[in-house]
Amino acid sequence: MSLKLRRLSYALGAEVCGIDVSRPMTEAAFGEIYRAFLAHGILLFRDQAITREQHIEFSRRFGELDRHDALPRDRHPDHPELLMVTNEPKPDGSPSDSRYTGRQWHSDMSFTMEPALGSLLRCIAVPEVGGDTLFANMYMAYDALSEGMKKLIAGLHGIHLSGTRKIANTETGIPRAEEQKRINPPVAQPVVRVHPETGRKALYIGEKVRRFDGMTEEESKPLIDYLVRHATRPEFVYRQHWRKNDVLVWDNRCTMHQALGDFDETRLRHMERTTVLGTPSGYVVANG
Ligand code: OGA
Ligand code: MN
Repeated sequence: MSLKLRRLSYALGAEVCGIDVSRPMTEAAFGEIYRAFLAHGILLFRDQAITREQHIEFSRRFGELDRHDALPRDRHPDHPELLMVTNEPKPDGSPSDSRYTGRQWHSDMSFTMEPALGSLLRCIAVPEVGGDTLFANMYMAYDALSEGMKKLIAGLHGIHLSGTRKIANTETGIPRAEEQKRINPPVAQPVVRVHPETGRKALYIGEKVRRFDGMTEEESKPLIDYLVRHATRPEFVYRQHWRKNDVLVWDNRCTMHQALGDFDETRLRHMERTTVLGTPSGYVVANG
């Protein structure tokens, strides 16, 4: 079989055409998909009218799935492998816990010792305008740094928090923020990671990084801000405009992403995600 690919942007991403992910697939056919995933960082499969079970089953081809113990409030009660990313209010009318998921530049599960290999997001409902997701190619971001900057960041570890720096706790709900802190103590991750499969170096930074280990917040902030700004230059970015039944898989080891909040909050935006476990990385910081 020869895979039909259409590149999504200069920076990264490809659409896989003519594939139904719910159909049985040989090892060889999946091997081609996996190679394309490593080469492009993101793969988009459109028009996949699949069930939750089929979403989980296809995701398993990429590796063992996270049961989301680090995010217990957001997983589906009957399918712990599925993380809800939705603004649909709870049955009692209170706001959804996951309505602000992903609203900062990040790589999934970076705040744990088992950061995600990949994530597969399925679009179930999107507002008629807005609610796109941005993705950045972190190989490109690393490669474009000067030799001096590469040397400077070579030994640095960023301390990742499970919450966000951008949205006040009062908005995401204090109980959730407190719970997140308790379940997920701050974890330090290398700022430069070698991708275990491609062997390429990628920048590993984002807006969940509060400071560098061994440095103060004040000292760290200018460099964190610079690296995030650098990595998210338009030429390193792909913007995903969602359609219902899109399934998008991304490689968290060489990309980061951000959900945009530019839509009418009274309109339903409902996505479901599976998370493929990655290799262990990082260490817990006592005084994060
Ligand atoms: C995620 C995430 C972005 C979005 O599911 O990991 O960050 O646009 N979602 O919903
Ligand atoms: Mn995410």
